Amino acid sequence: PYLNSLLSQDCETPQLNPVMEPLSWMLGTWLSDPPGDSTFPTMKPFQYLEEVHISHVGQPMLNFSFNAFHPDTRKPMHRECGFIRLKPDTNKVAFISAQNTGLVEVEEGEVNGQELSIASHSIARISFAKKPHVEQITRKFRLNSDGKLEQTVSMATTTQPMTQHLHITYKKG
Ligand code: HEM
Repeated sequence: PYLNSLLSQDCETPQLNPVMEPLSWMLGTWLSDPPGDSTFPTMKPFQYLEEVHISHVGQPMLNFSFNAFHPDTRKPMHRECGFIRLKPDTNKVAFISAQNTGLVEVEEGEVNGQELSIASHSIARISFAKKPHVEQITRKFRLNSDGKLEQTVSMATTTQPMTQHLHITYKKG
């Protein structure tokens, strides 16, 4: 992209900001392997493909995008992008995400080794967002010993208590 080409004249990737070192294990392009599982008491279990990009431009934050696709038709489905910040000199993490469903959310939590656990702190949505509305979200990211990244998402809606909605592992692309 044009703006990123202004980052450096010789196209070198900027150095990772030292503040972000505790989350460096998340960096990269990740592809679902095997397909992810989407579940919830109100829905038929569904599998999906997902491509994840987690990058940085030298700032004390990571940039992310999660792009889900239908496993058969490859039609784009859920998409979200945002930033991950670390409070300097702590393990306190903030996760800021905008989703194509009309949801914007802030989650906060902690990184411990190669595991990040976060929970929603505030959720905003467009006035005509599909119902039922999500009221709480928790996520766990972990880098496994086989080098795969794992994400688990649970949510509570206006009709269901906190229950797992997504589980997926990714291999480095
Ligand atoms: C349904 C939220 C990510 C696939 C739903 C529902 C909510 C929701 C509130 C409605 C549940 C009900 O009717 O009781 C979220 C949130 C996400 C997320 C907050 C991210 C943090 C994803 C992803 C996929 C996915 C990545 C993968 C394709 C589905 C499917 C349904 C569903 C297939 C059922 C059909 C439908 O209602 O569209 N989700 N979702 N979701 N979600 Fe997600």
